Amino acid sequence: MNIYNVPIEISTYQQIVKLLPLEAHYSRRKMGNGFCLKTWNEVIKRLKTDKFCYAIFPGDIRDTGRPSARERREYMFHEYERKPALTEEDENDQYVLDSTIIKDLKPVAHKIIGMLDGDHFVRYADGSTSTQYLCEKLGIPGAYLGERLGGARMTFRMKHAACSLNILARHGVGGTGRIGSDINRLISQNEQFRADLYIGGHTHKKWFYPMNITYFGKYELKNKVIGYARAGSMLRSSVKGQVLYNEIAEMSPLKMGYPEIYIYLKRSPSNNDHLEISDIRGLT
Ligand SMILES: [Fe+2]
Repeated sequence: MNIYNVPIEISTYQQIVKLLPLEAHYSRRKMGNGFCLKTWNEVIKRLKTDKFCYAIFPGDIRDTGRPSARERREYMFHEYERKPALTEEDENDQYVLDSTIIKDLKPVAHKIIGMLDGDHFVRYADGSTSTQYLCEKLGIPGAYLGERLGGARMTFRMKHAACSLNILARHGVGGTGRIGSDINRLISQNEQFRADLYIGGHTHKKWFYPMNITYFGKYELKNKVIGYARAGSMLRSSVKGQVLYNEIAEMSPLKMGYPEIYIYLKRSPSNNDHLEISDIRGLT
């Protein structure tokens, strides 16, 4: 579990900063997983053109098999002479990443505030992961938050004023059934973590939930909003004549895409040199 700090210079005290949680399941296959390349291209264009739009990847950025099968095979062929073969496989995999995800994300690498492995990634013979490789090749090695859980901090600055948003990102585990259970699960899994925004993936449901928190100020009770969001996915649920990921995993039909999180910044009413987060809202 790592923490990545991203400094962001805002241009007005009333800035709204957008954050998009993306679970892409990127694939070059034309059939079989439902990955929507159009949505992927659109979101990259948006990150390029919208100065205050950022992205976080809470796992499953690509649609590879889970690494457990690969690891089993590695253990099976652990003799020294098999090592070069595995390394060659790793290089082939990295070659594909270079010409797809890395090529696409390179121009927006400074807009990425973190990446997790999740369930679908490749573990290389040297023990590193394909997500680590992505972050390193993108020039943002610190953005690799870990396999399933990590923290990201967006630090907003305007002249001398600054404030931070602490984000706890996890991939998520287990099926959650209906939407209420999905929300409850993300809240309960994060019960013992203190953050301003909690982001999960895994269930491919897509939602944002703002929670009002009351706490003790120096002389009075104060309120603030914290947010919970589930990333959705870039996988179509059903396409005529195809058996897609959604069907194989026996998931309910789900709306493809990602939620949008809006972070509202403003000047502190008690001190003009201070910046604060006045609200967190979401669009799903
Ligand atoms: Fe997924």
